[in-house]
Parts: sequence; C-alpha cells; structure tokens
Amino acid sequence: MSATDLLAQLADGAFHSGEDLARQYGLSRTAIWKQVASLEKLGLEVQRVRGQGYQIEGGVDLLDESLIRASLESNAARHLAQMDIHHRIDSTNAELRRQTPTAEGATVCLAESQSAGRGRRGRAWVSPFASSIYLSTAWRFHGGAEVLEGLSLAVGVMVCDALEGLGVEGLSLKWPNDIYLHGRKLAGILVEMSGDFSGPCDVVIGIGINVQLPDSVVEAIEQPWSDLRTVASGDFSRSLLVAALLNRILPTLATYEREGFAVWRERWQALDAFAGRAVVVDNNGQRLAGEAAGVDERGALVLKTSLGLQSIHGGEVSLRLRETTA
Ligand code: ATP
Ligand code: BTN
Repeated sequence: MSATDLLAQLADGAFHSGEDLARQYGLSRTAIWKQVASLEKLGLEVQRVRGQGYQIEGGVDLLDESLIRASLESNAARHLAQMDIHHRIDSTNAELRRQTPTAEGATVCLAESQSAGRGRRGRAWVSPFASSIYLSTAWRFHGGAEVLEGLSLAVGVMVCDALEGLGVEGLSLKWPNDIYLHGRKLAGILVEMSGDFSGPCDVVIGIGINVQLPDSVVEAIEQPWSDLRTVASGDFSRSLLVAALLNRILPTLATYEREGFAVWRERWQALDAFAGRAVVVDNNGQRLAGEAAGVDERGALVLKTSLGLQSIHGGEVSLRLRETTA
C-alpha cells in the first residue's frame, strides 16, 4: 500500500482502524503508521483516536482525473494532449517548462501541493495540500510573442467566467494578473514564455486559486487574501472547478493567435478592480502616478497622467492603489 492508497481511504473523512487497514493490505500496523506519517509530511492533519483509528477530519477533496475528463466538453477535450496529476511537485509551471512541449494540443499539469510555488517577480506562491488549485497548461504558439501580450489578462477573464459559472460572486481583476474576491486576492496567473520570440513560442500558463487555505499557512501571505470557503461546500469539487477552467482555456488557446486580446478587452474592463482609481505603477523603483483608465487592445494598462495618456506594458511592473502606498 502506498501513501496514495491510504489517502484515498482517509479522504472520506471517516475513521479507519489501523487494524482493518493492516489486514486489508496485508501489512503490519507499523507499516500503516509509517504511511500515516508520510501523509502528515505532506501537510495533512491526521487524527489518531484510540479505539477508532485514523481520520482526516472533514475529509479531503482530492483531484479526480476521471471526473475531470468526464466533465470536459468536446471542444476542450479535443485539444488536450496530456494531463498529469501529482501529489507534490516543486511547481506545476516549472514541471511543464522541463518537459518537451507537444507540437499539437495542450499539456496540463496539476498538483495537490507545490513545494516551490512561484508568483510573479520571483515571489513564492503559498501552496498547501488539496486546499487550492495549482494548474498549468503548456501550449505552442507559432506566430511569435507579440500577439501573446494580453494572454494573461484573457486568462483572468476565463478564470472569472469559470468561477461565476460555479456561483461565485464578487470577483474582479487587478492588472495584469490578479483575481480578487471582494477586493482580496483569490487567485494569481503566471504566464511564462520561452523559445523563438519571432516564431514558435512555448507558453506555460499557471493558475493558482485558493479554495480553503488552512490557518497554518496564511501568515506567509503578505497581502489581504481570500479563498472559496463560502462556496466550497455541498456539491463543490476541485475537479469540477478544474474542468470548468479547462473548458474555457483549451478552446481559447486554439483561437487566441488569430483573435488576440481585442475580443477579451470589454469583458476585462467590466471586471477591472481599479478603473477610475488613483494608482501608482512601480517599474523597478521608477514610479508613475495617474488614474487607471482600463486597458488597450493589446492588454497594456492605460494610465491618465499629468503628461497625458500612457500605456504601461506588463512584465515586471507592479500596480498599487495610490492611497495604499507609502
Ligand atoms: P503586483 O505584482 O502588482 O505587486 P502582487 O502583490 O499580487 O501584485 P504578485 O507578484 O502578482 O504580487 O503575487 C505574489 C504575491 O501573492 C506574494 O507576494 C504574496 O503576497 C501573494 N500570495 C502568495 N501566495 C498566495 C496565495 N496562496 N493567495 C493569495 N496571495 C498569495
Ligand atoms: C501571482 O499572482 O504572482 C501568480 C501566482 C501563480 C501561481 C500558480 S499555482 C500553479 C502555477 N505553478 C506555479 O509555481 N505558479 C503558478
């Protein structure tokens, strides 16, 4: 029996006696205890109650590959070349960047937890076990990087659409890549590119969405954050959320090069968290103040400054509300 088998048993939230588990798998109780310890190393809290056995209180909503596949619409499924689900990995983005990209279709990498989850500008992304979505998709574009400028913004709209489809209200977008729920960071998008910037270009789109973060990790988050705990009950399942995301993302990857960001712009602006607000853009210490005035056809931020309208392109730029900066 592997730790994965044990987790599959304990995921139901019920008590499982060490003796029954040992008998079922033909193992000693010490061997079971060792597998319990390896689950705890993943960050799971396993209760031990004398006379009742082991339990993960509340259960674990594990990713279920067959449920994800069964919930894909045909227009998404036909673009899926490969999907892997890991228990623990350094970073789903890093994993896809290590792999040779498929010439056709999307490669999808999911994980229950990340040991070195990455945000933009080298920051860490807090990634506890089975408490969030860590989803990366690799895709090869052929026409060069220029048309891809607005891709991470378009993905933000797709994430909001998928979440709204599951009944989440109060979503907004912060340029270029953050998703807020009631004004607090719920999710982030990290798009990484490599290859020939004037020809074939390999893109990895990473999405992190907080579902129900345990108290033990939240201190590491340096800004107001949120998760889906108020919606993540009843019929909610992380696998259905993954399928809803893929149902939006995979068909769009196939058309994005042709259509670009222009078709996403209006919807992005309707979700813009900072529209009309006084903001400061920080580009490696160089600060520019102005009023946020939406985005242009390519996805650049438009800023009304004392010198007129200025377009700010993504990359390493950081955007803050003026009243919240020192
Ligand atoms: P900006 O790029 O405009 O400065 P930002 O402050 O959101 O925006 P990013 O680099 O986009 O910064 O995201 C990384 C930040 O996200 C980290 O500094 C951390 O504060 C926050 N963060 C890390 N993990 C999580 C998480 N699971 N949920 C919400 N926020 C997180
Ligand atoms: C940000 O807001 O800075 C972007 C966060 C992106 C996090 C996701 S989680 C899945 C994928 N793997 C990573 O290491 N990062 C992205």
